[in-house]
Amino acid sequence: MSGGQGATKAAMHLLVTGANGQLGQCLADRLKAQGISHTLLSRGDADINDTVVLEKIIADKEVTAIINAAAYTAVDKAESEPELAQRVNVDGAAALAKLSARFDIPLLHVSTDYVFDGNKQTPYVEVDSIGPTGVYGQTKLDGELAIQRHASKYIIMRTAWVFSEYGNNFLKTMLRLARERDTLGVVADQVGCPTYAGDIAVALITVADQMHNGEARSGIYHYAGDEAVSWHGFAMEIFEQAHQLGRLANIPSVNAIATEAYPTPAKRPAYSVLSSDKIVADYGVVASDWRLAITAVIAKMTE
Ligand SMILES: NC(=O)c1ccc[n+]([C@@H]2O[C@H](COP(=O)([O-])OP(=O)(O)OC[C@H]3O[C@@H](n4cnc5c(N)ncnc54)[C@H](OP(=O)(O)O)[C@@H]3O)[C@@H](O)[C@H]2O)c1
Repeated sequence: MSGGQGATKAAMHLLVTGANGQLGQCLADRLKAQGISHTLLSRGDADINDTVVLEKIIADKEVTAIINAAAYTAVDKAESEPELAQRVNVDGAAALAKLSARFDIPLLHVSTDYVFDGNKQTPYVEVDSIGPTGVYGQTKLDGELAIQRHASKYIIMRTAWVFSEYGNNFLKTMLRLARERDTLGVVADQVGCPTYAGDIAVALITVADQMHNGEARSGIYHYAGDEAVSWHGFAMEIFEQAHQLGRLANIPSVNAIATEAYPTPAKRPAYSVLSSDKIVADYGVVASDWRLAITAVIAKMTE
């Protein structure tokens, strides 16, 4: 795999961890559709801390980049099991970063808007100061720092409010509740950018491809939805679209509630709007059109 002049560059082969998660499954769909050579690893195949197993896979498959879609994502539960969150989000990220450095291949890692405290009132850019308000956000931030310390080529893609046709997410929870109840209360004083996991997958593949072609620009990037909205506004859009598409018989009455009225173990940032301008400029990707993505996700859902 030497890169001397005239040497043939190895074909791109992506290793995807967290293959059974929302993002992992969206990555799998798009890699297959685009005919890109890849290896998918679920937690059952290999824990991201299992360096010995991963090292063998990277060598055997001639992996050219790692995409880490594995994470501990239970924001509230993390408050009561911080060691577990730390093990996946910090130790696991560090283990992958060290492997990527050992094989001299890029690591594409996904982080979160919850590294910010939410006190800003204009979209967060990559150089804004961080200040997580809970264990999950803290472990994701520590994971970013571990990658910056141990990897030589890396992209840390911070995203937010992820939804898809897979796994558990806000869109699916809202549709289930809307079918069970006539009235719902949804938080209206937290504002963010919903992001379709399928669009994150496309952005990651685009970046991986450009890095493979020698355009390696390591660093932190924000990639999220193209429009800010509250959870309440997001829910209303989901209900209206599901109703129009014939997937929701009746739109429930939705009360806009304050965060105080819906206490959770982990404190969330009130404002976590991410600006995707830098990644759009550097890599030519398009910010996630989450309204359009809601239509696509509802169409793909079977229940
Ligand atoms: N969901 C959001 O709203 C959101 C918002 C901002 C950022 N993000 C970030 O986006 C990324 C993708 O999130 P997602 O929503 O796709 O998460 P997800 O659906 O919870 O998937 C995470 C996957 O990681 C796997 N995993 C957990 N621990 C592991 C370990 N030790 N070794 C190997 N695999 C392990 C899980 O395996 P099991 O299936 O066996 O549990 C799961 O399949 C994460 O980095 C997350 O922090 C998510």
